[in-house]
Amino acid sequence: MPSQILKSLTLAVSLLAVPFSLYAKNNVVVVATGGTIAGAGASSTNSATYTAAKVPVNALLDAVPQIQNLANVTGVQALQIASESITDKELLSLARQVNDLLKKPDVNGVVITHGTDTLEETAFFLNLVIHSDKPIVVVGSMRPSTALSADGPLNLYSAVALAADESARGKGTLVMMNDDIFAARDVTKGINIHTNAFVSQWGALGTLVEGKPYWFRQSVKRHNKSSEFNIEDIKGDALPSVQIVYGSGNMLPDAYLAYAKAGVKAIVNAGTGNGSVAGYLVPTLNQLQQQGVQIIRSSRVPQGFVLRNAEQPDDKYGWVVAHDFNPQKAKLLAALALTKGKDAKEIQRIFWEY
Ligand code: DGL
Repeated sequence: MPSQILKSLTLAVSLLAVPFSLYAKNNVVVVATGGTIAGAGASSTNSATYTAAKVPVNALLDAVPQIQNLANVTGVQALQIASESITDKELLSLARQVNDLLKKPDVNGVVITHGTDTLEETAFFLNLVIHSDKPIVVVGSMRPSTALSADGPLNLYSAVALAADESARGKGTLVMMNDDIFAARDVTKGINIHTNAFVSQWGALGTLVEGKPYWFRQSVKRHNKSSEFNIEDIKGDALPSVQIVYGSGNMLPDAYLAYAKAGVKAIVNAGTGNGSVAGYLVPTLNQLQQQGVQIIRSSRVPQGFVLRNAEQPDDKYGWVVAHDFNPQKAKLLAALALTKGKDAKEIQRIFWEY
């Protein structure tokens, strides 16, 4: 076939294809759980005084009609609570619901609207137990929908744009807040009253501007399909019980003993400095370790990471160090590790690899 005719045919076909590609939008499901993004205050000047978890998911979506230009967006009301009240029951139920949605061939991505207080825990948990390359984006807001310069609508728009973007596939669970794209593994709520609340000591993975993500790094740690944990293997509505004791001066051993009596399987010690444990507490912690309560050394200091066998003889005591995980994430990872076994060396491996 003469080359000129072939070129014309090729051009015609490519022009025809453009309109179809414009309408082949991805399908994104917004799973609402409550929080400030669904909050309402008494007046537009109440940016911090409001009631969380009031606005239903369809009203959230209707308030940002522009999201329908990004993807075919539908909403599901999974919960309607403030995130500080989420227990294992709600967390496991949410993870199972997200897992079921992502198994559907006509679902291309999921956005979860969530309170910011424990947003990092939910995102981290999903990062560890959902085996899918499809984007999971967790989003919240620091101001209620009724406030002047509410941050929720743009955060939601950006989260849908991210969940609909092919470049977000396989990057683990992502947190979209204040134009920043964070890895669920290391993001944390660093400021409790400003819109730039979320931070990571290792930096954001990228940023999203006017609906387009720009990537600059990605996590090298195990997550999603490379994780040994799977929501489908976790039965019931509770994880092994793990609690946190916050380190300070002049502590009492009673908190540790009370948790042990309550049946915890591990205690995360949010120690001072590099996860230090006061000398007068060591006998109690070692006694509990002997009784089968795993001791995990984290730190109350927000940046850095806990070194093994530095000031504390972890090998000698059989303790685990939480590496760079903050106490609340160490608690979740320890609970998941305990679903696999109680061996301290195995638990420590998990803390190095995830
Ligand atoms: N009650 C808090 C929560 O649901 C409000 C904080 C927020 O969502 O920004 O996490």
